[in-house]
Amino acid sequence: MKIDGTPYRSVWVDAQDGWSVRIIDQTKLPWSVDIVRLVDVAGIAHAIRSMQVRGAPLIGAVAAFGVALALRADASDAAMERDCAMLAETRPTAINLRWAVSRMLARLRPLASQARVSAAYEEARAIADEDAAMCEAIGDHGAPLIAEIAERTGRRVNLLTHCNAGWLATVDWGTALAPIYKAFEQKIDLHVWVDETRPRNQGAFLTAFELGKHGVPHTVISDNAGGHLMQHGQVDMVIVGTDRVTRTGDVANKIGTYLKALAARDNDVPFWIGLPSSTIDWTVSDGVNDIPIEERAASEVTTITGRGLDGTVATVRVVPTGSPAANPAFDVTPARLVTGLITERGRCAASAEGLGALFPEMAPAD
Ligand code: MRU
Repeated sequence: MKIDGTPYRSVWVDAQDGWSVRIIDQTKLPWSVDIVRLVDVAGIAHAIRSMQVRGAPLIGAVAAFGVALALRADASDAAMERDCAMLAETRPTAINLRWAVSRMLARLRPLASQARVSAAYEEARAIADEDAAMCEAIGDHGAPLIAEIAERTGRRVNLLTHCNAGWLATVDWGTALAPIYKAFEQKIDLHVWVDETRPRNQGAFLTAFELGKHGVPHTVISDNAGGHLMQHGQVDMVIVGTDRVTRTGDVANKIGTYLKALAARDNDVPFWIGLPSSTIDWTVSDGVNDIPIEERAASEVTTITGRGLDGTVATVRVVPTGSPAANPAFDVTPARLVTGLITERGRCAASAEGLGALFPEMAPAD
């Protein structure tokens, strides 16, 4: 997708040297577009932990390039296993991270050490290219839902999204935002309510940035406003991304997603999830009990970052000194609250049957 007319992906191999890895530092957005060069696996791990890169599909792709950088330093079996285990642990909830590292290991383990570096770049590039293609396909399968609302109502379609599940959270296109970009390209009249998404404000900082750069009409709202808007008929459809979907269709996503799903159900607003198949955890059936939820630093709740009127970016405290804060970063929306899943292979019910019909080769034999 584009920033000020220039096409970007959210991760790429440096065209000049052909081996280092470039990312957009998302901790600096929307204030500045800083491109960071990563040269070793420690830098990749830091980028994922510090959320210079974030979003489930993107951290998988970046970790895959991290394996390639790790192998440049030491391609022995022991070092590869150690570095892959370290990368897989950088964040706990998004299954894409473990999926990508496991795929890299499956490709690299059988190879002699001297053949591993070039194979690792090839596989990481394939993961990145496939992610972009899957997300574009999610857009193609999701846009008709928006078109149908436009046709039925004969007016502007109002969508609501939470967190950032756009191109910055993937390699390109996004998951939840891909259908919106596709529908926008098709000239469907639409508008997006963007939840600010405290504590890290991925909605206000990243989704608003992306949509704004693409010219998509949008309005940032406080996290608590969605239910009110739904009660007053101002939301036609909710669409969000996910960090892990169980084989039964439970959906882990950014904290606050569950409350939006409850409000949507109470107001008969369709609640859709966009996801590539790399986000499905086929080993887990009970999302609430079995998906690990990342607990992040209390400082993300007790402080907030913004740009002052003098143009400088500053972090200020918003909680009294001495008050403790808790910061669970994700929650799980049970499948019964989800209208449906939009994948690269099409749409399905959020259920074992729905997912099994789209991905018969993955569904466990009963
Ligand atoms: O903590 P983050 O910013 O990595 O969380 C990201 C999300 O929750 C996204 O909604 C999710 O990864 C889906 S991404 C396409």
